[in-house]
Amino acid sequence: MISAEILKKFREIQTPFYYYDLDVLRSTLDVIKKESDHSGYKVHYAVKANHNPRILKLISSYGFGADCVSWNEIAAAIAAGFSPSEIVFAGVGKTDREIESALKAEIYCFNCESIPEIEVINHLASLQNKTATIALRINPYIEAHTHKYITTGIEESKFGITTWELDNVIKSLSAMNNVNLKGMHFHIGSQITRMSVFKSLCSRLNELQNWFSSRGLFLEIINVGGGLGIDYENPEKQPFIPEYFTLLNEFIDLLPGQIIHMEPGRSIIGQCGSLISRVLYIKNGSNTQFAIIDAGMTDLIRPALYQAHHKIENLTSDGNIFRYDVVGPVCESSDTFAKFIELPETRRGDLIAIRSAGAYGEAMASRYNLRELAPSVFSDDL
Ligand code: LLP
Repeated sequence: MISAEILKKFREIQTPFYYYDLDVLRSTLDVIKKESDHSGYKVHYAVKANHNPRILKLISSYGFGADCVSWNEIAAAIAAGFSPSEIVFAGVGKTDREIESALKAEIYCFNCESIPEIEVINHLASLQNKTATIALRINPYIEAHTHKYITTGIEESKFGITTWELDNVIKSLSAMNNVNLKGMHFHIGSQITRMSVFKSLCSRLNELQNWFSSRGLFLEIINVGGGLGIDYENPEKQPFIPEYFTLLNEFIDLLPGQIIHMEPGRSIIGQCGSLISRVLYIKNGSNTQFAIIDAGMTDLIRPALYQAHHKIENLTSDGNIFRYDVVGPVCESSDTFAKFIELPETRRGDLIAIRSAGAYGEAMASRYNLRELAPSVFSDDL
């Protein structure tokens, strides 16, 4: 909720900016901490969702680990207080330099996506006289029922190792002395709102457990990835974190000595952030009015890239309701936040909040059109 008091402060601040309500973030973190402590799970925050140093610091203070997809993310996580021994490194295209740095930093685990990648890790680890802990990211062939760009666990997705390749992986591993296979890893997509999808993942995971056990292999790390969605329609609503934990507890057949790891990103950081912008102009179209605001797809690319819906509020008008296309200033037609939505009568200078922008907003910002990167503002400082 953006209170009248906060709104007064917003009026003094140059727009656009990302506003983070740290109380909302803390309350989400409290829930996930309680659930993970209670279930004995290990949480690795997916840094890609938001790498703002202040956010990282707050999340690391809860004792969580980090899930990183580049060396720069690993370095940022370590700088923010995450322990290297709690960092997992994912990605289909880890470079040799990134692998070398991660080995030097002694991170917890490499989530591996192909045999050639494991061979490179093995070789680079041997040069450092080290043994790298690895987990196999397995493609479980589960439809995530989300946008196709963020569906990752289906056939011919570039992510993960196919199940029919697993025999080859195990064979190849027997010739490698500098990697230690300790886990299996999954990530089937993002913004998943149907709990049944996670249930399918659990069944698939149990089948794979049997496959490994029947070959005498014990994997202590069971990493279910991220993906838990948020309610973009209701920004005040917290994600279904307790329900998610209950489901995993109920449906994963864990063997003694195994620990469930997870990599939530959006569900931790999504609802605490808003992109705050000012209306520059109201312009007539033939069937609609355009509210042209000073934030653009460079600040929040999700609507342009995934046709994503974000709730938009006019914070400074309570006039009669009209319909508007809310658009940014960037020279692309896709620079549109919403089409034909109802807003109270909107005028130049009004403050607009684009809600649920904490995840994949600031993190995906660009300087296209040579626009400035929008700064971040934290509730604790207002
Ligand atoms: N683990 C892995 C291996 C991932 O690839 C991802 C996200 C996560 C964890 C975190 O997933 P989350 O809990 O945030 O769903 N830019 C897109 C989302 C891309 C997600 C990529 N991978 C968006 O704005 O919707």
